[in-house]
Amino acid sequence: MPSSMEELIQKLHEIFKEDRVNVEEVKELMESYRSNPQDWKQFAIFDTHRYTRNLVDEGNGKFNLIILCWGEGHGSSIHDHSDSHCFMKMLQGELKETLFDWPKAEGGEMTESSHKILEENSVAYINDSIGLHRVENVSHTEGSISLHLYSPPFQTCQVFDQRTSHKTEAQMTFWSRYGERTPFQAAAPRENN
Ligand SMILES: [Fe+2]
Repeated sequence: MPSSMEELIQKLHEIFKEDRVNVEEVKELMESYRSNPQDWKQFAIFDTHRYTRNLVDEGNGKFNLIILCWGEGHGSSIHDHSDSHCFMKMLQGELKETLFDWPKAEGGEMTESSHKILEENSVAYINDSIGLHRVENVSHTEGSISLHLYSPPFQTCQVFDQRTSHKTEAQMTFWSRYGERTPFQAAAPRENN
């Protein structure tokens, strides 16, 4: 059992040296880490307007590890995961994950297939064969913090309009990298996942 996030990251590096990803193994490892704010508070940089994506580790090119900080009421669009694995561990607070089916045709409303509340220390997993999701901090009083692992790493994903199923490509950007605020970029692209 990893006693710190640093140890968790070391173990993830070992697991991802292999070419095949064992989803259960990664999920169990991430679940076994007990969230300790001392380990990750340097990466947990919030914005008042929307949720932030903060790069923690680039996993030797095999994965990206990102801390997402969700203010009260902040949520993502409905999005896919560009054929990658996506693991999401709750570090603090709770998030609501809503799953959607892939739209069969554009024009109609998207179908919600299920939803659940992710509690502190739990790990959720999704990939494109499972479907699409939206993630939200539905609390009006507490921020939420989650640790996301994407393998292989990706730079763009698709976001979907719930009412029309219309999809657009979105760039993945970082609010901070290794605890340092990312320099301002003009025409800030939309952030997702
Ligand atoms: Fe996602």
